Amino acid sequence: MAKKQPARQAKKPYRIAVIGGDGTGPEVVREGLKVLAAAAEVGRFRYETQEFDFSGARYLARGGDPAKPNIPVVTDDELAALKTFDAIYLGAVGDPNVAPGILEKGLLLRLRFELDQYINLRPVKLYPGVKCPLADKGPEDIDFVIVRENTEGLYTGMGGCQYKGTPHETATQIMCNTRHGVERCIRYAFDLCRKRGDKKLLTLVHKTNVLTFVGDLWFRTFNEVGQEYPDITRDYNHVDACCMWMVKNPECYDTIVTGNMFGDIITDLGAMIQGGMGIAAGGNINPDGLSMFEPIGGSAPKYAGKNVINPLAAIGAMAMLLYELGEEAAGDRVEAAITYVTARKLKSLAAGKMGYTTTQVGDLVAEAVRKGLKA
Ligand code: IPM
Ligand code: MN
Repeated sequence: MAKKQPARQAKKPYRIAVIGGDGTGPEVVREGLKVLAAAAEVGRFRYETQEFDFSGARYLARGGDPAKPNIPVVTDDELAALKTFDAIYLGAVGDPNVAPGILEKGLLLRLRFELDQYINLRPVKLYPGVKCPLADKGPEDIDFVIVRENTEGLYTGMGGCQYKGTPHETATQIMCNTRHGVERCIRYAFDLCRKRGDKKLLTLVHKTNVLTFVGDLWFRTFNEVGQEYPDITRDYNHVDACCMWMVKNPECYDTIVTGNMFGDIITDLGAMIQGGMGIAAGGNINPDGLSMFEPIGGSAPKYAGKNVINPLAAIGAMAMLLYELGEEAAGDRVEAAITYVTARKLKSLAAGKMGYTTTQVGDLVAEAVRKGLKA
């Protein structure tokens, strides 16, 4: 028997931590929050937000310097505070005034690892009305999802450097995967694939012909776990071939599961075939814990403060956040509102070419959410 749900009004407000970040991050996050307000109004749920400034500017103001690793981008106390929230909403990370890697490692990767957000979920979906760079492909052809492992692989930081600056300099960066890490990611992908629709096709993407240790771990685990999912068809692609198929026959994909670095790379390709970074959303998910949602593009410093950046990726990330909180209807409503705006309003998804400002696009989506509009 289904458990009786407590009355909506009695439910505690969701607590959402908001990290605007760098560059255009705060601008797109503002529009996502506008859409959240509209969704909460019609969906009759309550929420609270709290902003955290983890920007490069703050890091520098606190005396941050690569030579002084004692100045963190996020302090331990702040991390502890974040852990009390129901979800994290992130704008963008990256400031040209801060040495490469500091903010990425100190903020984004730190949260992914410490919050054990072991899934990076990145839908590749061509919305109606969006110009696709692939000839003769439409929204019915481009609608799949990439499950990227998010806490292992080349991202663990294992490796090192010896004899630096000499002709004998040696550098290693280790692709480290564990059975535990690979298995939980693959299970998540099978479960998601089962829920997604009729195709029921899960493709493992790796490079088993060269990465004969790590690739073999993924391949064996995939086939073993797959025995428990007889309703799901399994397929395998090498990562280079996957890049080719994503361009040539994207309609052949349903759900892709892959390691951290390959996932990083193929999801940028995925973003391009769905119309660009302006629309590509993602979620760093801990299925049993705290998840963090973000547009997958960067901080686009050259557009910062100009009110020209496309906020749809951030708004799509908000839809994903709502799904993860269990607010399915609200998530559907935001998704539908995005289709309305791409199909009926925007001239282009590119920054400065939308025919609307950043804030106007946010207004359009929020209004479509209130009115329940779709393409
Ligand atoms: C991404 C980004 C990050 C990654 C960088 C900023 C560390 O490219 O989210 O895809 O490599 O994961
Ligand atoms: Mn990336």
